[in-house]
Amino acid sequence: MCGIVGYVGREEAGPILLDGLSRLEYRGYDSAGVAVYHPQVGLQVDKAKGRLQVLSDLLDGGKKIKGTLGLGHTRWATHGRPSDVNSHPQVSEDGLFAVVHNGIIENYSEIKEFLESKGVSFVSETDTEVVAQLLAYHYKGDLLEAVSKVLHRIRGAYALGILCADQPDRIVAARKDSPLILGRGDGFNMLASDVTAVIRYTRDVSYLDDGEIAQLTPNSVEVFDRYLRPVEKSVHHVDWEISAAEKGGYEHFMAKEIMEQPKAFRDTVSPRIQDGEIVLEGLNFDRAYLTSLDKVYIIACGSSYHVGMAGKYILEKLLRKPVEVALASEFRYCDPIVTDKTLALVISQSGETIDTLAALREAKRLGATVLSIVNVVGSTIARESDKVLYTWAGPEIAVATTKAYTTQLALVYLLALSCAKTLDSLSPEEYQELLRGFLRLPDKMEAILKHRDYIQYLASHYFNHSSIFFIGRNLDYAVGMEASLKLKEISYIHSEAYAAGELKHGTISLIEPGTLVIALAGYAPLFEKLVSNVVEVKSRGADVIGVTSAAQTGWLAPKVDAIIPLPDAHPLLLPSLEVLPMQLFAYYVALQRGCDIDKPRNLAKSVTVE
Ligand code: AGP
Repeated sequence: MCGIVGYVGREEAGPILLDGLSRLEYRGYDSAGVAVYHPQVGLQVDKAKGRLQVLSDLLDGGKKIKGTLGLGHTRWATHGRPSDVNSHPQVSEDGLFAVVHNGIIENYSEIKEFLESKGVSFVSETDTEVVAQLLAYHYKGDLLEAVSKVLHRIRGAYALGILCADQPDRIVAARKDSPLILGRGDGFNMLASDVTAVIRYTRDVSYLDDGEIAQLTPNSVEVFDRYLRPVEKSVHHVDWEISAAEKGGYEHFMAKEIMEQPKAFRDTVSPRIQDGEIVLEGLNFDRAYLTSLDKVYIIACGSSYHVGMAGKYILEKLLRKPVEVALASEFRYCDPIVTDKTLALVISQSGETIDTLAALREAKRLGATVLSIVNVVGSTIARESDKVLYTWAGPEIAVATTKAYTTQLALVYLLALSCAKTLDSLSPEEYQELLRGFLRLPDKMEAILKHRDYIQYLASHYFNHSSIFFIGRNLDYAVGMEASLKLKEISYIHSEAYAAGELKHGTISLIEPGTLVIALAGYAPLFEKLVSNVVEVKSRGADVIGVTSAAQTGWLAPKVDAIIPLPDAHPLLLPSLEVLPMQLFAYYVALQRGCDIDKPRNLAKSVTVE
């Protein structure tokens, strides 16, 4: 996903832009560039394929480019291969406009043909260059008017930063479906894809909404709707520390974020337990509403979808209501059965995943009430939901999610317990037992994390496998999906999560001597069934690592090659514990294989293109 930074003020823009872009590297990119305006020099544009360091070296850390007004960009290629000429900023033929863009202009081909018919010549393969050229075509001296005309013409998703050499005291920005925040300073103002790029300079930010246009000068921030009518924007004070977005002594952000999970869990849960009762802010789901529900539809992508898979088992067990889970990218195209009695539970760490946002909008159009679980405050999904529960995990930088997964799951538990209490679908004793066990989870997480060197030892034995299976039943199967994705996305080892009872219907043909199978046996009611699946794969020569609670370890250990014991907990709560050794296993395997753990190849932290 691309990163945008803009600065207008009294300081030299170059170093500030490069510093801001370095805070956005985690979003994934393949080239970078800056455009800075100086009264004597005019518009200077420097771009480079590859890592941001290449550009920074070119500009001597920004000192070589002069001016107090500028835009910076890290590009994750969508239209046009990674190259210097395809990097942003893209510049209009007359040299007046420099544009940075995150998103996709869907109708760029037809606009490009139109402009070429007017004699405009293009230099890049990008969709973004069309915006710069169209601005030049419409510009007659009024910058905002030209921007408004362009926004009425283009279709697609965009976060735009625009510089005009004819009006060198301002930056214009616009957004639709791709995030943009405004950093508000004293004698300067900034623009960025997210808060991490500006927090070093200002903690006061506003969030642009879809269709809005912003105009920033050193001493003013104006926001307009697409018809150029003024819009009032509230200013939020960001209170998390910069260190929260830095590694804190760990080798990788992922290691830090794995270790932060007990704290993230407590930060997410504690404010929602008042006098022993669950209080979910803004969720006044009363008995009548919950009774009237025809279905809960969980919609998400990737690891958030895996939270949904576990959520289905948890919510159906506690609420006795039908729960469906859909991949957001499938939901829109499966003609879903949704009514005004459907609760759509939308889960997303970034709150900007375009597939999930599109599915949210479709669910709303069909009449559902939308409750979202999101980690990024003010993100698009959060702001388009009817109700939102924030995970207070803090910024998650590593592409492979860990603490966001755990805190999303924690909110699913709180939601399920809270609704079960309202519906009386749990006895008071069951409710109290589950709540007590739930509140003890972070201590148990800490116990697991204390023994991470054992997981590292296992990883040192198995990191050379080319294919690894995760098998489990019920909640264990849901955790297996997440375990498999973690391993795949950071170690590049092929892996598959399989419902253990389904193996015999075909896939067991793949099990041969030396195949590594990780058997997840935390869900006690099905433990014996899982043990028989272990015997099945062992008899075909597989190496098996068993994962189970302390109470079951004695039964499982003799049947497997290695065992990962978990602290005892209620079977319904095991996923919150079982996922931790799986995250660690993936991390240490990837470490052994020398992979780029925080920025795995081909991946981005938030996928804002379809
Ligand atoms: C998780 O490790 C992956 N990075 C990816 O599957 C991610 O969960 C997915 O893209 C959804 O992102 P979101 O939660 O921000 O919507």
